[in-house]
Amino acid sequence: LSAAVDGTERMRLCASFGATMASSFAVSRLHMRGKTSFAKCLQRADTTSTISCVLSSEKNLSCWMVSSLLSDEKNGQKSLHTLQVERQEQAERSVLISCQSSTNEKKFLKYLSKHGEISKYFFYESYGVYAVVEFAKQESVSSLLEGAAIPGGSHESAVPFKSRLLSLRNFSPVDSQNQPSGLQCQPQTTIPISELIKRLSREKSIDKQITSLAEAYQLTEENSRLRFLVCSLLKDIAAAYFPECTIKPFGSSVNGFGKLGCDLDMFLDVDSISGRNVKLSGLSLEYQMKRANSERAVTQSILSVIGECVDQFGPGCVGVQKILNARCPLVRFAHQPSGFQCDLTANNRVAMKSTELLYLYGGLDPRVRNLVFTVRCWARAHGVTSSIPGAWITNFSLTVMVLFFLQKRSPPIIPTLDHLRDLAGPADKSVIEGNDCTFVSNFNKIRLESNTETLEKLLSEFFEFYATFPFSRMSINIRKGKEQNKPEVAPLHIQNPFETSLNVSKNVNASQLDRFVSLCQESSWLLQQSETGTPRGGGGDGGPTPWGLATLLLPSQVAGIKSRKKRRREPASERIKGLLESLKNKNQLKKS
Ligand code: GTP
Ligand code: MG
Repeated sequence: LSAAVDGTERMRLCASFGATMASSFAVSRLHMRGKTSFAKCLQRADTTSTISCVLSSEKNLSCWMVSSLLSDEKNGQKSLHTLQVERQEQAERSVLISCQSSTNEKKFLKYLSKHGEISKYFFYESYGVYAVVEFAKQESVSSLLEGAAIPGGSHESAVPFKSRLLSLRNFSPVDSQNQPSGLQCQPQTTIPISELIKRLSREKSIDKQITSLAEAYQLTEENSRLRFLVCSLLKDIAAAYFPECTIKPFGSSVNGFGKLGCDLDMFLDVDSISGRNVKLSGLSLEYQMKRANSERAVTQSILSVIGECVDQFGPGCVGVQKILNARCPLVRFAHQPSGFQCDLTANNRVAMKSTELLYLYGGLDPRVRNLVFTVRCWARAHGVTSSIPGAWITNFSLTVMVLFFLQKRSPPIIPTLDHLRDLAGPADKSVIEGNDCTFVSNFNKIRLESNTETLEKLLSEFFEFYATFPFSRMSINIRKGKEQNKPEVAPLHIQNPFETSLNVSKNVNASQLDRFVSLCQESSWLLQQSETGTPRGGGGDGGPTPWGLATLLLPSQVAGIKSRKKRRREPASERIKGLLESLKNKNQLKKS
C-alpha cells in the first residue's frame, strides 16, 4: 500500500453548503434548541450532517440532530466507528455527476431537486468538472437513477452497468455553449511546496508555522466525503456478488493524518455478512459454500473476481492491477473522476485496527496531528519517504516514530498501547488471527498527563531524539513506550503494534536510515541557529525570507547524504555551514 501520486494534478473543489431547500419550520425548531448548541454544532467537523438534518424533514430533525448533538457533547470526540457509519450513510445518499464547465448551478440544482431535497453539494475539478450531490433521502437517489438514460449514439458500445456516477447532458440550445462557468471552484490538492514555504515564512512563530502547515495540507470536509463516496460506488460493484458487504476507507484517508492527494486505501469487508458466525441450536439450515484451502486463498479469489469487475464494468476505474501474491493481496487502480489512486484489500482487519489506533492517538491532543503532519511533510520534501515502494521509510513507520517520541516525553504526551489496552471495555475486545488488538475506543476514558511543551520545542526535540537514537541496538515499541533490544538485524526496527513479531520497517535499508538520521541532525542544528531559527525580515518581490520550518522544508542540495563515502570525508557541521551559505546566497540573489 503505497502513497498516491503527490497531488500534482489540480483538483478543484467548490464547497457550496447546499442550503437549497431549508424550510422555515425546521429553522425555527433549531432556534428553540438554543444558540449555543447551534454554534457548537456548526463548529464541529460534522457540520454538514447537522445541516443535512435542518434540511431534511421535520421528523428527521428532531431525532437525528438531537442524537448527533448528544453523542458529541457527551463523548467529546467520535470514535472512528461512529464516524465511518455516518459518512457511509451520507455516501449512500449521494451521486457523482460529471458536468460541463458551463453548467448553470441554479438550473442544475432545480433539475435535481425534482427528485427530493438536496442536503449538500459541491463542485470540484479533476479531468473536468464534477458535482457531488447528497440528497436528504435515499429514495431521491433511486428516483434520479430511474430517470437517467443509457448512453447512446456513440460508435463504442457501453457495458449496461448502472452506477451512481452519471453525466449531465444539456440539450437546451440556449445556454448550452460557451457560457462562462458560474461554478466557484477552488484548488483542493495541496499547494505546491514553494508556495507553502512562502506561506510559512510569513508566520511569526514556529508553532504557527506548524499549525499553518497542517491546515494547508489536511483533508478537507469535501475531500473526505468524496473518499467515502468512491468507496460506496465501489461497494455497488462488489454487491453484485456480496450484497451485504461493505467497503470502508482506512489508512490516511480516515486516520486524521491524511494529506490532500494521499491514496485511498479501501477494505472490502465480507465479515459483516450476517449469519456468518451465528451460533446454531436445534434444527437449522446453513448455506452451502465453496471452500478454499486457506483464508488467504478466499481473499485472493474474492479480490480477483471483484478486481475483474472493477476493470471490466467499473465506470471511471482505469489501470486496474491485481496484486494478489503480495503479503496483503490487493487490487490497485486509479479512479479517474475523483483523481484518487485506490488500493482495494480484503480481510485486512489488522490494518483497520492500526488505522483506529492512529485515529485515537491523533484525537487525544492536537499536538499529535500537528507534529505528524510536519514530520511527514519534512520527510517527503527531502525524499525520506516516497510514493514508490522501496527501501524508504513509509508514512506509517514515520507516524509510529512520532508517536513513540511523544510517549517518551516527560511527562508523556500520549499513553502507551498497553495502557490503552488496560482501559478497554468488553466491547473493545478484539483478537485477529491470534493477535490481541484490544484497546479502548472511548476518548473519555483516557486521562492525559499535563505536558505543556510547545510545538516548536517538540519539533526540535524530535530531531534531536532521532539524531541520537541507538538504532543499531534498539527497537521502537509503542506498546511499551520504551525502546527494546532489537530482536533482528534489520537497520530500523519498529515493532508492529498488533502483530508484535513483525517489523513494520523491515524494508528500510542502512543508507535510507543514515539519510534520515543525518537530516535529523541537520534540522535540529538549523532550528537552534538564530539565522534560521527566528523570523527574518526581508521579502519584497522574491517573497519573505525562509526561516524556521520553512528552511527545513527547502529541498537543499547539501542537506542529507549524497553518498555515505562522501559523508565520511565531510563532517556534518561542514555540510550545515554549506547549507547556510547557500541560503544566504539565495536571499542575496532575491534582494539584488
Ligand atoms: P499514506 O498513504 O502514505 O498517506 O499513509 P497511510 O497511513 O495510508 O499508509 P499506507 O497507504 O501505506 O497504508 C495504509 C494503512 O495500512 C496504514 O495507515 C496502516 O494502518 C496500515 N499499514 C501500512 N503499512 C503497515 C505495516 O507495515 N504494518 C501494519 N500493521 N499496518 C500497516
Ligand atoms: Mg494510504
